[in-house]
Amino acid sequence: MMPDWTPSSWQRHDVRQQPSWPDAGALAAATRELAAYPPLVSPADTDALRAALTQAQAGRAFLLQGGDCAESFAEFSPDNIRASHRLISDMADILTAASGLPVIRIGRMAGQFAKPRSISEEEKDGRALPAYRGDIVNGIAFDETARMPDPERMFRAYSQATATLAHLKNLAASEGSTFYTSHEALLLPFEQALVRRDEHTGRYYGASAHFLWIGDRTRFPGSAHVEFARGLANPIGIKCGPSLDPDTLRRLLDRLNPDHAPGRITLIARMGHDRIEAALPPLLRSAGREGHPVLWSCDPMHGNTIKSANGYKTRPMARILAEVRAFFALCPAEGARAGGIHIEMTGQNVTECTGGAAALTEQDLSDRYHTHCDPRLNAAQAMELAQLLADTLRKPNRGASAAA
Ligand code: PEP
Ligand code: CO
Repeated sequence: MMPDWTPSSWQRHDVRQQPSWPDAGALAAATRELAAYPPLVSPADTDALRAALTQAQAGRAFLLQGGDCAESFAEFSPDNIRASHRLISDMADILTAASGLPVIRIGRMAGQFAKPRSISEEEKDGRALPAYRGDIVNGIAFDETARMPDPERMFRAYSQATATLAHLKNLAASEGSTFYTSHEALLLPFEQALVRRDEHTGRYYGASAHFLWIGDRTRFPGSAHVEFARGLANPIGIKCGPSLDPDTLRRLLDRLNPDHAPGRITLIARMGHDRIEAALPPLLRSAGREGHPVLWSCDPMHGNTIKSANGYKTRPMARILAEVRAFFALCPAEGARAGGIHIEMTGQNVTECTGGAAALTEQDLSDRYHTHCDPRLNAAQAMELAQLLADTLRKPNRGASAAA
């Protein structure tokens, strides 16, 4: 148990990336009601994931984490869930065939609804409205009603997550595999309402998903999000962008995992193809020096976002693949193990990232650009990435030293 921690102790820390709720009473009423709802995931399943991640840290498994940037209410359908689950399964099969390793499957699914934003207001045609912060907060349409943060949306998110989880469970059972869920634990009043204490062990779990991560914008010293995650028994991810310095990382690890417990921390590097060579090695050394048991995973999406000439947020496949290649070369060079991949993808045939075997161009982006936030790999592009990973993992130097 963490000293001085309660499910609400984050409220005394620096809270960023939250909406301005118009009605504090309505927010309090909604979270009070949610706090009485059943947990979405069980302590036993969350512990099983943590044990699996311990295996990955030791080089005996590989982590594959993927799904939407932002799940939406509009794209909620069994077909979409099935397609994304299928894609993750197919990728996992390729990776297992090449490496001989079991693949831990975690979806950015069944709860990935809240988004951090770089600006809190969006301006269009001389009008400023609150930024879209994900369907759990407000609507994406650029009008006053849609953009007003509404706590009632948390109930729809809860019910969509419940149904998505149930569907994923059936899909996984039908192929004899296990599937875990994850999201950024960003919307703290919601996450707090979903904390449950395990009566057998007395441990607190974030019961909204098996795996929760802290975003690159909220992992700073003194952060409320770090404080919230500190007391949970879940496996925790930390996004590591180019602005993270080795000292801050070391302090984050001490804070979130003072006992050096295995399986607890996954570090998700998201540097960008042109910054990873300079930014990653000092972090690899910092974590290694302190003997912190961490799993290093590569997010080749968030550092490689650009604006196309015709105005779309996109990500060129070439840059994504370049960052993956660099990650899998840099980790072993520093005695760390490259143990996972974290991607934004969908089983649908969207046109959001350029390049790949089909050579999608910026002109193609308008065809099927559906994302509610960042551009995702489509199924063909994700399988190409899986193929590159398979080639990398097949190499005999997989795993480097046991130091990671
Ligand atoms: C994300 O994963 O969607 C995200 C916002 O990532 P980051 O915190 O790394 O920018
Ligand atoms: Co994203």
